[in-house]
Amino acid sequence: MIPQSFIADLLNRVDIVDVVGRYVQLKKGGANFMGLCPFHNEKSPSFTVSPTKQFYHCFGCGAHGTSIGFLMEYSGMGFVDAVKDLAQNVGMVVPEQDDKIPPAQRAQMQAQTMALSDAMTQACDFYRAQLRTAPDAIAYLKGRGLTGEVAARFGLGYAPPGWDNLKAIFRDYDVVALAEAGLVIDRVDEDGGNRKRYDRFRERVMFPIKNTKGQVIAFGGRVLDGGEPKYLNSPETPLFSKGFELYGLFEARQAIRDAGYVLVTEGYMDVVALAQMGFPQAVATLGTACTPHHVQKLMRQTDTVIFSFDGDKAGRRAARRALEACLPHVADNKTIKFLFLPTEHDPDSYVRTYGNEAFEQEIHEAMPLSQFLIKEVVGEHDLQSPEGRARVQFDAKPLLQSMTPTALRLQIVRGLAQLTQTTPHEIESLFELAKPVALSRKAPSRSGRPAPVGLELQIVRLLVGHPPLALDIDEAALSAFQFFGAEAAERLVQLVAGAQALGANGGFASFAQHLKSQGDEYDEIISEIARGAESDVDADRLFLRSAIRQIKEDALKQELMQLSAAGLTPESIARFREITAQQAQLEREKQAEFANR
Ligand code: UTP
Ligand code: MN
Repeated sequence: MIPQSFIADLLNRVDIVDVVGRYVQLKKGGANFMGLCPFHNEKSPSFTVSPTKQFYHCFGCGAHGTSIGFLMEYSGMGFVDAVKDLAQNVGMVVPEQDDKIPPAQRAQMQAQTMALSDAMTQACDFYRAQLRTAPDAIAYLKGRGLTGEVAARFGLGYAPPGWDNLKAIFRDYDVVALAEAGLVIDRVDEDGGNRKRYDRFRERVMFPIKNTKGQVIAFGGRVLDGGEPKYLNSPETPLFSKGFELYGLFEARQAIRDAGYVLVTEGYMDVVALAQMGFPQAVATLGTACTPHHVQKLMRQTDTVIFSFDGDKAGRRAARRALEACLPHVADNKTIKFLFLPTEHDPDSYVRTYGNEAFEQEIHEAMPLSQFLIKEVVGEHDLQSPEGRARVQFDAKPLLQSMTPTALRLQIVRGLAQLTQTTPHEIESLFELAKPVALSRKAPSRSGRPAPVGLELQIVRLLVGHPPLALDIDEAALSAFQFFGAEAAERLVQLVAGAQALGANGGFASFAQHLKSQGDEYDEIISEIARGAESDVDADRLFLRSAIRQIKEDALKQELMQLSAAGLTPESIARFREITAQQAQLEREKQAEFANR
């Protein structure tokens, strides 16, 4: 957990105009900066960046957020990485709360990561330069239909034959970093004596693997002939974890946005060849099954993920694993599809054989996740027999259990119920599905709480827009919030506490970021403020004061009515007096304020 205060400091320190400006060309227009929205296709700019709010908002597609949110959306980084990236740019070091590592050691680890990253970049440059003077490798790539342009786009290179070519670029070939980066292998003699170090990649076409920031973190190397293994990959290193990374994602980002979907393949060559043939929106898992982390990473880039699997048995197995990885991430506004190519084909060979249009058609006809799931669980079972139907349900249970309660889950449950001669309710209870969709009567709001309205909504808006205004809110106001009802009061008290915690310098962006980390309850309001005109703090302060006074008055009035309805007792008479005194006080405040205007 990164402390909230650090996030707030960070957002005060960075300027969103710089952050966005690194990726989007911005022009000043009035109080804001304008540009072409990087999150949807447009010809005239509807993307605005507000330096005062430290927030971006697109009037075209509704995308909005802080500097952190922008980096996450734009580059697909996770929250922590985005924070680290921004912090690095303004020279701040991200504290890690539950991290027992002493600062000196952390600094050393950072230095190590830098050293590894440096080594990878140098190696990549070396391999690329080598490709230019390697006729065999060039011929191989040409033979596979690639142009120099595409090879350059993916930074393809060549590791020449020989055991220690990297000595040419690393002054000290013996440093630990080279082994840690996976560029060399240390072989220790049987007796544990002599260590012999040699280059991991030799005589291979090199595919650099980049993270979402574009830094080289690993390599895949392909043999030119029929040698084994066909592909040699970097090992897991501090920079690289194959269960998290996708080949080609960095290169494909813009194309994925333009196409509106990402195509997930199984191979390096598929990605490069597809880009060559007009499908630059492709990425690949790295010789491993698709993991939930992969799916999450992809979902950050686009709403539609289409998996393409080779038509062989291994492809089927891979599809099944991908299905499992997707289920926890299914959401009703996301689309996941599966495309199965004929046996003996991968995307690369398919497009070469049948052409672009045929592949386009396959993409178009890809099987929706719900259909694939049903197909998987039905398998070879006999739906005509009770045993067969029970077996189908048995197989479906873990899959449905890993889904969150979505409309799509209910649809799948319905389909399954029909096939297995049961009812959706029976399936949901038999499978012990958390929060059965079929049973819930009315849809709760996304947060579970009714959205704020009226005076409450106005107060919420003012506090979200200018968090330091919360410092004016006193105990009496907090208890008066009860007038809105217990749930609303709880929400307001939390909101005030959150805003107060940011202190006098708390900004809208910091608060929005904080609220976002708690869920989506305030999304509407944040978006509304982001698109709204600049508001004047002093006017808002007066407005909040009068709103608070109003709620105090209402609460007092309500209490008075309850008191008189309950009948008079000595206690109630005393309270009666207090209330009227407070009412008079509120009235005086109001008069004084009007006199001052
Ligand atoms: P494929 O054998 O389908 O290779 O392996 P490919 O990508 O189609 O390559 P070409 O067309 O024969 O050149 C799919 C992926 O599995 C991993 C690689 O990531 C490869 O892209 N793999 C395969 C390995 O890591 N090692 C291997 O020896 C083979
Ligand atoms: Mn292939």
